[in-house]
Amino acid sequence: MDRFIIKGPVRLRGEVGVSGSKNASLPILMATLLTDGPCVLNRVPNLRDVRTTFKLLTELGKNVAYDGNCAVITSAGPLKGSISYDLVKQMRASFWVAGPLLARLKHAQIPLPGGCAIGVRPVDIHLRGFEKMGAVCTTLKGDILIKAGELKPAKIVLRFPSVGATINIMMCAALIPGKTVIENAAKEPEVDDLICALKSMGADITVDAQGRIIIEGKEMLGSMNHAVTADRIETGTYMIAAAATRGDVVIKNCVPSHNEILIENLIESGFEVSAGQGRVHIKYKEGVQLKPVGVRTMPYPGFATDLQAPYMALLCTIPGASDITEDIFENRYMHAPELTRMGADINIEKTMAKIKGGKPLTGAHVMASDLRGGVALVIAALCATGESVIDRVYHIDRGYENLEQKFAALGAEIKRENPEKQ
Ligand code: UD1
Repeated sequence: MDRFIIKGPVRLRGEVGVSGSKNASLPILMATLLTDGPCVLNRVPNLRDVRTTFKLLTELGKNVAYDGNCAVITSAGPLKGSISYDLVKQMRASFWVAGPLLARLKHAQIPLPGGCAIGVRPVDIHLRGFEKMGAVCTTLKGDILIKAGELKPAKIVLRFPSVGATINIMMCAALIPGKTVIENAAKEPEVDDLICALKSMGADITVDAQGRIIIEGKEMLGSMNHAVTADRIETGTYMIAAAATRGDVVIKNCVPSHNEILIENLIESGFEVSAGQGRVHIKYKEGVQLKPVGVRTMPYPGFATDLQAPYMALLCTIPGASDITEDIFENRYMHAPELTRMGADINIEKTMAKIKGGKPLTGAHVMASDLRGGVALVIAALCATGESVIDRVYHIDRGYENLEQKFAALGAEIKRENPEKQ
């Protein structure tokens, strides 16, 4: 298993380019199941979750060619209606193929995604939506069976604006003739990007002033041609890393408006932040006294749960007391004990983390236990004095393209090694 060796502290300086969004690429790749036409998707990041999605599409009857961040998906034969547990185990988002498969085949059999490292993550909101559209959902030996005689358009009110459920229901409704309305839908930029990709296939989807998604379903969808939006979580991660290391970094090829709350928080903390067309500049001005600004995670446009862990690493570096409240996922504080091993002072009380920042961080041997928690350890290691070893980098590889190259270009001393191969 790969691990990172990082020597700190460092002040990150320079420019870094953001990759295409992982969380947009996955559903858009899955949307190719809605058509037999060829689909061309640009700016697809080369990540473990993306490669798992390619395997998923291949297992379901697609051909995938991938070169230089461009994925071309074509039909290899009839679609299959079920996927193996092996893939769902590797990536919970595999469940998002349910909507397209249901629309195309009127049935889908998907292993139940079960618990995952950051919490229970049920799929009841997805299933409720499918049922509203005429499907019957049952479980059989750990699989969810979704079947429909005929699917019908529906008005669906989500009890929570779940990103996964919004995506799954929207993909299914795009192929059900008639008007489906999703109320209390997720507003994440990744949902907008999927809408854009579906429109390029001929779908008729609008979002009204109340945030309702209105889908005029079609009998058939055509080929897709789309470029994936910038990864707002990767953007936010580099912004936070720049701030935590008191650096001076320009983040390029991003959409600054997708990280508005984070930008406001960094300015309130005392960092200099300027955002322009496709770029954000974060700078720490020597001598400025910083202030820790707490956060509560919320659906977009609130503070992203995916940035909670990296942001905690930043708060550990700013003198003073602050709180984080994690309201999206239970058990998303597994990075906290590892940060504590590096010298941080963090107390977890249910959904709240109380941080006393400014304690000196020192390099340590730590372990990533999920994607965003893992990158929080990388940021802490860049701030810590001495050498850190971060095990289980495979979690980080799920979501950050060329992470060590990008940090090295900003001046970090970071290398990847595999002790088993030495
Ligand atoms: C969530 C994030 C998303 C992030 C992604 C990856 C939110 C609202 N969503 O999306 O921004 O990119 O993780 O980490 O911040 N839930 C149910 N039943 C369901 C579906 C969800 O109870 O059927 C609950 C989940 O347990 C969780 C919450 O709703 O507490 C958010 O779920 P959802 O938005 O669906 O999660 P993801 O799509 O993974």
